[in-house]
Amino acid sequence: MTKLSVNINKVATIRNARGGNNPDILKVAQDCESFGADGITVHPRPDERHIRYADVVNLRPLLRTEFNIEGYPSREFIDLVLKVKPHQVTLVPDAPDQITSNAGWDTYKHQDFLTEVVGAFKEADIRTSLFVDTTPKFIEYAAKIGADRVELYTEPYAASYSNNREEAVAPFVEAARIARSLGLGLNVGHDLSLENLQYLHDSIPWIDEASIGHALICDALYMGLEKTIGEYKKCLS
Ligand code: PXP
Repeated sequence: MTKLSVNINKVATIRNARGGNNPDILKVAQDCESFGADGITVHPRPDERHIRYADVVNLRPLLRTEFNIEGYPSREFIDLVLKVKPHQVTLVPDAPDQITSNAGWDTYKHQDFLTEVVGAFKEADIRTSLFVDTTPKFIEYAAKIGADRVELYTEPYAASYSNNREEAVAPFVEAARIARSLGLGLNVGHDLSLENLQYLHDSIPWIDEASIGHALICDALYMGLEKTIGEYKKCLS
């Protein structure tokens, strides 16, 4: 079964727009779980413009499903993750001021740094996932580094889906096969939506987890969070 992890960063962005606690992201996270989400993802950035470090700490004891923290492994981020001990950490190569992740790791170039960071998380019993594009070499080096999983950066798939979905998905199927042959678990994320998710899942049914934020929260404006989560889960079943 492919798990749905709901990224609640966008909800924190709405909260931060007014400075108060509406919407209450702790409640939203718990509601996502009761509406069927298999996990919650947060992406604290150094400027705390959406999820704050304190949110991450406060969420930990409340969550009943899988907690995934993603981010660039700065010293502060590493300390936060080691303190909170989520089920999974997803490492992304984001610059601090980036609007959203727009590339995966060059795991060959950064192998020494990533081996050290992944090792520290493994010692703390936290599953590690590296955000990568479909370049075979980057997946091979993710395995050499000792990561448990890769998360495939699906923006190029989403961008080409409506033109030619067979062509759009082909490099992802190949990357997923390589990951599987190396014993890596497989996550996917970025720009996945009710339009493109089902076909990705049908093409790669062994995906462990899809991490979805932007489109899901946008859909919830029209359908409500409960129905929306149900619709995304249907795409993954
Ligand atoms: N995975 C990673 C590593 C991300 O950085 C993001 C965006 O924060 C997502 C998944 C979710 O992407 P989207 O908001 O487009 O669903």
